[in-house]
Amino acid sequence: MAMQINTTSNPNSSNILQRSRAGLDVLGAMLKYSSTSLRSVAREDFLATEQGAKLAREHAEGNSSADDIAERVDAAIDLAASLPIHRIERFVQRYVAEEMMSRNVVSVEEMRDYHMMQDATPVQGAGGTLELDPAAPLPAYYEGVHYHLSPHGTDDYDLGGKGSGIGRVFRYGGFAAVPPGSNIGAQRVNVVQQFRQSDLKRILEIGCGGIFTLMSINRVFPKAELIGCDLNGQGLVEGFRMAERVGLKVTLRQCDARDTGEADGSIDGVFSYALHHEAPVEVNREIFREVFRILRSGGEIVISDPPPFRAVDIFDAVLLEWDNDHREEPYFRETCLANWEDELRAIGFVDVEGYALGDHGYPWVTRAVKP
Ligand SMILES: C[S@@+](CC[C@H](N)C(=O)[O-])C[C@H]1O[C@@H](n2cnc3c(N)ncnc32)[C@H](O)[C@@H]1O
Repeated sequence: MAMQINTTSNPNSSNILQRSRAGLDVLGAMLKYSSTSLRSVAREDFLATEQGAKLAREHAEGNSSADDIAERVDAAIDLAASLPIHRIERFVQRYVAEEMMSRNVVSVEEMRDYHMMQDATPVQGAGGTLELDPAAPLPAYYEGVHYHLSPHGTDDYDLGGKGSGIGRVFRYGGFAAVPPGSNIGAQRVNVVQQFRQSDLKRILEIGCGGIFTLMSINRVFPKAELIGCDLNGQGLVEGFRMAERVGLKVTLRQCDARDTGEADGSIDGVFSYALHHEAPVEVNREIFREVFRILRSGGEIVISDPPPFRAVDIFDAVLLEWDNDHREEPYFRETCLANWEDELRAIGFVDVEGYALGDHGYPWVTRAVKP
């Protein structure tokens, strides 16, 4: 039975009960230990082998084809899998990835009454717009995928948008492409600052999820009109409620980034954060073509997604590839082997650049201009 909680007397109270909070914090501590202490030993072990040192040297030389990189990464995966500390480090990562999702559901369920009450409470209007399309079909590439080992599918669980417990585990960094000790909030702002122009007036975030990245865009472009689009209706509902609560005026639209509903040449800047690795390369090509269509001449796209294998050392490439099968990210491998710079040039973008802002190739930025 759901617990009774008096949140009206303390609006700042946490939306996770102490027992769940403690459990999630332990998982965060395990993730941190695995990503720092264990991982640095695993890396040393890998490089101390003759084959590991050779693979690292070859990879650092660069200029390899995607096929050569794939072959090298596969050889490095086999080698790493033979090393005990690496196996323990990956065991902890997998355990945390699974357990975190279950504990998050428990933490949400034990606060069901609170969430229902919050959802029923009118919020101060910021004047934004929420455009839902519940009949919109999910794309074929979602078939059978429970991204990030989520125990419930997209939009299949009424409290699916209440995921604050996961943030408690991930706040230390040290998962997927995000290095340990990362400040993800500050990095989001840093990436938004990669737009070349400072006076963009209409900015669209494709695959916005909720509004965390839109809030970062608002910090850098406080006067810009903001639009967010995503397939996931629940994330948008949740994000819209938060936007209205914090006074951020946004338009949130449930749609596929391949068909944004925006007119030709009507957008000054398109931003994406952690979107492209969730879709096959061919779908990303369609997304880039749609972005080209809606941008005005001189408009910009800035992308932040996991770094390509070619931009990180061979051991980091092993870690990135692992997410494909172990954190249910089925397009991670093919997108890390892709080259967004070449894809954007092929569509007609100019001034295309790809570069890292921090260590371990993260955050990795790709930016371009429509001529
Ligand atoms: C990892 S989340 C990132 C969310 C957000 N950008 C952020 O910074 O927190 C990826 C998002 O991309 C969305 N997505 C995946 N494929 C999409 C598509 N074809 N069109 C629109 N959104 C998509 C998912 O629903 C999900 O919300």
